[in-house]
Amino acid sequence: MEKADLNFSQLPFGYVKTDKNYRCEFKDGKWGEPVLTDSDIIPLHIAAQCLHYGQLIFEGLKIFERPDGKAQSFRAIENAKRMIRSADMLMMEPVPEEMFMEAVRKTVNANRRFIPPHGCGASLYVRPFLIGSGIQMGVNPSKEYLFIMFVAPVGPYYKGSGLSMVNLIVEENIDRAAPLGIGNIKAAANYAAGLRATIPAKAKGFNEVLYLDAREKKYIDESGSSNFFGITKDGRYITPASSSILPSITNMSIKQLARDEGLKVEERKIHVDELRDLAEAGAVGTAAVISPIGSITYRDEVIKFGDTPGPVSLKLYKKLSAIQNGLVEDPYGWTQIIPEE
Ligand code: PLP
Ligand code: COI
Repeated sequence: MEKADLNFSQLPFGYVKTDKNYRCEFKDGKWGEPVLTDSDIIPLHIAAQCLHYGQLIFEGLKIFERPDGKAQSFRAIENAKRMIRSADMLMMEPVPEEMFMEAVRKTVNANRRFIPPHGCGASLYVRPFLIGSGIQMGVNPSKEYLFIMFVAPVGPYYKGSGLSMVNLIVEENIDRAAPLGIGNIKAAANYAAGLRATIPAKAKGFNEVLYLDAREKKYIDESGSSNFFGITKDGRYITPASSSILPSITNMSIKQLARDEGLKVEERKIHVDELRDLAEAGAVGTAAVISPIGSITYRDEVIKFGDTPGPVSLKLYKKLSAIQNGLVEDPYGWTQIIPEE
């Protein structure tokens, strides 16, 4: 199939209108028939629950083109499971795993020409989301839901090439998850609460903020759009244990890769003072992939990790991206070829 007329290797991380998106409605206690539509507008009642009380959760996963031209998803089932956990936390109707996976197949098949060609550095980002669409004036869960999935071909989330260094600033005053008391879920409200930290940081030239734990302001949580890891001077992979960060599917994968490389993996509280002793640091996530951290600004101090990716970050990046892009056999069963329909 001929590819869409796009400069795939220069794509930013942004919205691109593709051919179709997937929609399915939950009404009268059951899911209806899914449809693929070419409109990217949704009709929504002015009193819809999601617009007022925030029943709105989303996910993000990527599709990669292999060298043989086949398309493969990366751990989509984990996104399906996490979306069920998010739905549970906000008392929303969960999307069954099989329905989620079928939506991935249908949405990708309806937009094949937008899958970036193998090796160009871009991928097809899949954005599933679920909203409480029923009319709700009192603060109660919606009785109706809309599950939508759309795709967009995307390049790197942080400016630059796949492995460009990112610079973060520690945010000490603003709590992103705490105003609502929710961590662990991917919900629209978490991200909006972080804007007043992220936007000023970006204006100062940082790629992202790094949040500390809301209670003590001593321990690293995560960045606004990715998990955090450090490599100690004696070669351990350390990553925060915290109830207010998103359990990253990418981090889960990298922890496994690190263990299989013989690295000791520690998931524990990381005191902000430990940053100075790290050999390498990185930001990980679906959009971020592995973005090595060049520096972290903490109060008046700039803690530097280097201008080029460190050897451990580089090795883990290569391992992960080889599996995602189908360059090597996937010994973990993380990837799944999307059959053409
Ligand atoms: N943390 C936050 C706040 C995120 O937005 C993301 C991206 O989804 C992640 C971590 C990384 O999670 P994952 O690797 O599942 O994409
Ligand atoms: C992702 O990595 O999928 C995310 O959701 C990050 C997002 C803020 C773009």
